[in-house]
Amino acid sequence: MSYINGAQLSEVGDADNPEDLYWGIIEGIKKLFADVGIVHGGDLSEFNIMIDLDNGEPYIIDWPQWVPRNAPGALDMLRRDITNVTRYFVKRFGLDVDIDEVYNYVVGNVEVREESLEEALEELLGSEGLSELMGSEKEEEFEDT
Ligand SMILES: Nc1ncnc2c1ncn2[C@@H]1O[C@H](COP(=O)(O)OP(=O)(O)O)[C@@H](O)[C@H]1O
Ligand SMILES: [Mg+2]
Repeated sequence: MSYINGAQLSEVGDADNPEDLYWGIIEGIKKLFADVGIVHGGDLSEFNIMIDLDNGEPYIIDWPQWVPRNAPGALDMLRRDITNVTRYFVKRFGLDVDIDEVYNYVVGNVEVREESLEEALEELLGSEGLSELMGSEKEEEFEDT
């Protein structure tokens, strides 16, 4: 990810249009979930969203605990991400949105079939991608034997 010349959402005093900003973040979450197939992982909040100072666009950062959407618990994590972000906008900017409605909007008609983390990763990345991701762990395994 490239460096964003901006401020954490938590430090943004005034947003020109908090509603647009909120829906921009939700659209980002939806795209990642529906098109890319991943979930941030339950740690999404005003501290992990940067607002670009040049164009006001939101960027979600801090992804080390991401999971594929078919991984165990991914939907719970997605709900937690949406809840954190929504509660912040409700409290801070007085938005009137219903978390269940937003969650249903994000999931849309995407079919989630829960499988093991490894299966979900392989499905998302292919077997080569999975080996690359697991590379360092595999080496450690070989060293042990
Ligand atoms: N791509 C980025 N562009 C600009 N600032 C960033 C970027 N990534 C991280 N930061 C800054 O560093 C802080 C900590 O980074 P983060 O990835 O959230 O790590 P953690 O919360 O685990 O310490 C962020 O809150 C943000 O202020
Ligand atoms: Mg962070």
